[in-house]
Amino acid sequence: MPSAPLIRHATPEDAAALAAFATQAFTDTYLGLDDPQEIADYVAEHFQPEVMAGVIRDLACTTLLAWVGEQLAGYAIVRDTPPPNCVTAPAPLQLWRLYLGQGFIGQGLGAALMAEVHAQARRRGARTLWLGVYDRNVRAVEFYGRFGFAQVGTSQFLFGGRYYADPIYAVTVKEFP
Ligand SMILES: CC(C)(COP(=O)(O)OP(=O)(O)OC[C@H]1O[C@@H](n2cnc3c(N)ncnc32)[C@H](O)[C@@H]1OP(=O)(O)O)[C@@H](O)C(=O)NCCC(=O)NCCS
Repeated sequence: MPSAPLIRHATPEDAAALAAFATQAFTDTYLGLDDPQEIADYVAEHFQPEVMAGVIRDLACTTLLAWVGEQLAGYAIVRDTPPPNCVTAPAPLQLWRLYLGQGFIGQGLGAALMAEVHAQARRRGARTLWLGVYDRNVRAVEFYGRFGFAQVGTSQFLFGGRYYADPIYAVTVKEFP
């Protein structure tokens, strides 16, 4: 990595930058995998600045931003929300979003964000992290596997007017060295 990343909590002032970043990262991730119009509809609904400001303010969520120098390089959001039935381990917390900018993939920044996600989960008293991932997103599936996530079932995910059976993964919250 060119310089060490700084990972910090988002504030409402970050909402516009995060909205633009999240839109780009989501589009880059799924463009080859999904219908472009459905991707555009999804980001228009979920990544407006006022929506992101609401997420940042939401006490059920912790929003982390990773900066490399002056550049927003990645973000992660954990969310306290009822898990799907297949998550039976104690004190579950959702790893809702974890995205890097295209230029920051493959440099260890995902790993740095994952360590901070676990630290935030511990602070929230969570003992289990769970997530849903699109099974055609191979890089992400492999990444989560490297961090001990194992599939515990599937859950319906509504995207572009269709339901997808996304695999659900879970891992015990731990301390990183
Ligand atoms: C999923 C995602 C966050 C994982 O991040 P990543 O950068 O791929 O994974 P890591 O941070 O573990 O980096 C691993 C790579 O960095 C290299 N690396 C360099 N320095 C490193 C360091 N200090 N520590 C760990 N790995 C390092 C590793 O060798 C490895 O390289 P390789 O991929 O060529 O084998 C990222 O791929 C991403 O944002 N993808 C698009 C969005 C997405 O799919 N999100 C998940 C939605 S469910």
